[in-house]
Order: sequence, then structure tokens, then C-alpha cells
Amino acid sequence: MKITVVGAGAVGATCADNIARKELAEEVVLLDIKEGLSEGKSLDMFQTAALLEFDTKIIGSTNDYSKTANSDVVVITSGIPRKPGMTREELIGINAGIVKSVAQNILQHSPNAIIIVVSNPMDTMTYLALKSLGLPKNRIIGMGGILDSARFKCYLSLALNCSPNDLHGTVIGGHGDTTMIPLTRLATLNGVPVSQFLSADQLKQVAADTMVGGATLTKLIGTSAWYAPGAAVAVLVESIVRDQKKVFPNCVYLEGEYGQKDICLGVPTVVGRGGWERIVDYKLNAEEQEAFNKSAEAVRNMNSVLSTLSL
Ligand code: LAC
Repeated sequence: MKITVVGAGAVGATCADNIARKELAEEVVLLDIKEGLSEGKSLDMFQTAALLEFDTKIIGSTNDYSKTANSDVVVITSGIPRKPGMTREELIGINAGIVKSVAQNILQHSPNAIIIVVSNPMDTMTYLALKSLGLPKNRIIGMGGILDSARFKCYLSLALNCSPNDLHGTVIGGHGDTTMIPLTRLATLNGVPVSQFLSADQLKQVAADTMVGGATLTKLIGTSAWYAPGAAVAVLVESIVRDQKKVFPNCVYLEGEYGQKDICLGVPTVVGRGGWERIVDYKLNAEEQEAFNKSAEAVRNMNSVLSTLSL
């Protein structure tokens, strides 16, 4: 197995680090445009192999896509991150051009790869990758829902004073501060609805904290988060390369599922060796469906900006 991560910033490097530690591939290639950055970070990470006891090789590349040839999975994290006060959506003008050219370069050298898009605004960047590459829809996955669901479980565990690992919780919709939908009705502590332990107000607060989970960190750190995004990507990659068939909310192309079409948006999907293999219908209630439709409308507005850019 060979996995490429494009972008050696904090998110990309943490993806590569987590993928290597989990030994999900024989080789991880980290590529960046900044001279020496990916080589340096890769070598630093590979020097942990003898300490952490993993056998995955990590190789850096300054913009030489031939080194990424025949990757099975490619993670695109390129682009600029958020600064405090910025929404993910404000990055579109710069990141669209970067993501499109990266995706095209990748495809030239790895025609069979499954492509994971992390760059923001993620839902629109996933749609852009899908439309510009013309690959089967199952091979293009936007990663956001796994991360948002991990943040949901983090805030639930703090409210419940329980282990995050005893919780199930899913965030669907867009990967934006106002477009994501934490499904509080379906969240459970070992199968028991969390509404049995938390009041409606507490649940509202957990949902609100989840939605600004990324923005809260950006404000504290001064740039986008990386530990949880990197770990979330590795969990997704693991389900692909080990064909685990795990169900994760991912941003995928909808053709009528969840009442939407011609859009990439977060819905529960089964993930295996073929990429996202099918969508699972969680049977939303009217209120959740309305929120999903609103989220779709916001993402569709963002997608329409793509046609105004000279890409
Ligand atoms: C975040 C970025 C990766 O949510 O979108 O932290």
C-alpha cells in the first residue's frame, strides 16, 4: 500500500504521522511546494520509527509528483488555513486553484487512487475535485464529518463526564460553522440515548460547541487545528486500506439521497477498499431534514462561486 499526503503543513504532516504510526502503508509520500519542508518533516517523522516501532517509510517530495506514482490513497490538505475570525468559506478564492491543480497532478501519476479532500471549504473543494477529475464518485471523499463527530463526542463526554469511547454520535451536513448538523437525537452512551442523561439545554450547548469546534481552536491557536484533523484522516484511511466497512459521515456526491442532488455533502457512508461504498439512510425527522436542506443551500451557494473563479 502506498499513500500520498499533499501539503506538509500541520494538518498534512499530522496525517502522515498518524498513517505511519498505524502502519497503514509500506510507504507514505508527503509532498509540498515549499522547498525542503516535506523532506525535513518526513525525515523527522521517520526518525521516530525506531522509537515508536513502525515500519512505514516516510518520503518527502518538493513538488515532484513522480514520487507519488501509483498511490492507492491520496489525501489533499493543500491550501491556506484559517486565521482567527475567518470562516472556512473565505478561503475559496485561493484554495480552489490550488486544489484543482493538485488533484490533476495526482491523477496523472495515480490514476486508480482514492482521493480524500481535506482543504477548506471542504464541501466545495470535494465538489470541485469530483467535477474536475471525472472519477467515479466513490473514489472522491471529503473528510469533515469524522472530525466533527469526534468533536461532538468530545463535548458530549465533557458534559456527561464519561469516556468519549463509550459514545456514538454523528455530525452530518456541511463542514462549516453554521452548516454542520450534530444529530443529538441519535447520539447514545453505549446505546442509551444521551437525552436520558442531559437536558435539552445541555444538548443544545453541546451541539453549539461542536459546530464552532474548529473556530474555537483557530481562535486559541491562531491557525487551524491539526491533531484531531490528522487523526480523523488516518481513521478514514484505515477503513479504506483494511476494507473495514466502517460507517462514517463523509462528504460525498449525492444523487437524490437525503433529498439532495448534484452536491457533495456529509452523510453516513460505508467505507472500504472501494472508497465510500454506499450511503446509509438514518431516516432524519422533519427538523433534521430541514436543517440538512438549509445546509445544502449554503453549500450550493458556495459551489456557485466556483464558476466565477478563473480556474
Ligand atoms: C478543522 C479544519 C481542518 O475543522 O477544517 O479543524
